[in-house]
Amino acid sequence: MKTLSNIKAVQKILAPLRGKKRIGFVPTMGAFHEGHLALMRRAERECDFVVVSLFVNPLQFGPKEDFAAYPRSVPSDRKMAQEAGVDLLWTPTAEEIYPSPYRTFVDVEEITRRWEGAVRPGHFRGVATVVAKLLQVVQPDRAYFGQKDYQQTRVLRQMVKDLHFPVSIRILPTVREKDGVAMSSRNQRLSPAERAAAPILFRALTQAETRVRQGIHESRPLLKEVAALIQSEPLARIDYIALCDPASLEPIEKIQKEAVFLLAVKIGSVRLIDNLLIRI
Ligand code: PAJ
Repeated sequence: MKTLSNIKAVQKILAPLRGKKRIGFVPTMGAFHEGHLALMRRAERECDFVVVSLFVNPLQFGPKEDFAAYPRSVPSDRKMAQEAGVDLLWTPTAEEIYPSPYRTFVDVEEITRRWEGAVRPGHFRGVATVVAKLLQVVQPDRAYFGQKDYQQTRVLRQMVKDLHFPVSIRILPTVREKDGVAMSSRNQRLSPAERAAAPILFRALTQAETRVRQGIHESRPLLKEVAALIQSEPLARIDYIALCDPASLEPIEKIQKEAVFLLAVKIGSVRLIDNLLIRI
């Protein structure tokens, strides 16, 4: 596996492969766990050449967020990526991605307004901008994302369609710990007591799914019951819970065929998100 940071050097490696080899791409911010590795392994199975970018993108962090504190562990990340079959690890620098003066941004409208977009203004602008730039450099045949960040997958699908990026977007299921907690670099920040409380998110999602299976399709009673379950955990504070249309992410009153259950819950000071797609 090669590790490169310079854009020109990355393009030089990729240019002769275009049209001959299927290029797979996994954009990340590092601090790899099984969720990231699942994307890399799938890319390795489906593609001839796998590129992973590792870039903690300052543009997607709010002023009060954890950019400086975001976990950075490039040496161990490199080892894990290599073991997952990655061919090229691209570690761009902020100076090269956002040279001064930097003036071009990608704003995806509507679908970014609610949920994570409402709590984290500018977040999806940062995500869409950096992913557009990364795709522009790598020009992969396939790009891999996790369902864990459900709204992010919808935003990026919309962007790729609107900007005519010739890439196929692959969304892979959320990888979980044994107790259902979705893997996330943020889990490292939970105290032992908070970690013990964290499975409440997955329990809430599973309870909602069970109730839907039992025939409750109206949002109001479902959300009420799930909210009560989460509130029974003293360390948990609900940020939002919502039953939404899986494409538009607008709240729905009743599940017709498909819905996505979105939730964000603070466990102590750590904000966790999770989601579940429900089909009836
Ligand atoms: P990051 O949080 O590093 O995540 C990289 C990819 O891994 C994303 O597609 C994310 O959805 C996926 N992922 C994270 N946890 C997962 C889990 N438990 N199961 C499955 N997939 C999981 O998401 C970002 O970085 C950034 O916003 C990025 C897209 C790289 C743009 O900067």
